Amino acid sequence: MKKLLSASLVLLATLFAGTAVAAENSSYPLGQRSIFSDRATAERLHPVGSVCVEGEECGAQVAAAEEGSGEPRSGEQVYNSGCAACHASGAAGAPKLGDAAAWAPRIDKGMETLVKHAYEGFNAMPAKGMCADCSEEEIHAAVEYIVGQSK
Ligand code: HEC
Repeated sequence: MKKLLSASLVLLATLFAGTAVAAENSSYPLGQRSIFSDRATAERLHPVGSVCVEGEECGAQVAAAEEGSGEPRSGEQVYNSGCAACHASGAAGAPKLGDAAAWAPRIDKGMETLVKHAYEGFNAMPAKGMCADCSEEEIHAAVEYIVGQSK
């Protein structure tokens, strides 16, 4: 009995140590993440990525999974979890993703202006597309994604 008890204690200790290491890795600042945490992140994201080929809901799930990890979300993730609300349907007069004719005159204004308008707001386009926790980098990536899909 004693032996069994100590064996399970060792197992518990091992589990605990594993959790502690994982927690430590995930708090690495950008650019300093160990290969272990990157691999763990890849493994965690893999099932979602392999099942979801396309679709807004999947994108939102990936964005949710990424939240709090300290990594900037990709343009596609930000688009799917926020911008798509208007830019997929054209709600509120938003130029639709993929509508080259609607985007051409906007693209002519230059990326800098488009990112500024997306970040600060522009007429019915709300600041940051209502993504309150989006960084400028993430908004920039989302604009790049929209523009890239609308040429
Ligand atoms: C509530 C609806 C709504 C959401 C959400 C939204 N947009 Fe917009 N967006 C608009 C509308 C409406 C316009 C057109 C504004 C105009 O030209 O008067 C627009 C225009 C733009 C433009 C063109 C600006 C220009 O100078 O022509 C960009 C770029 C843009 N949105 C990016 C984004 C990004 C990136 C997101 C997500 C982070 C987003 N939008 C979310 C409604 C929205």
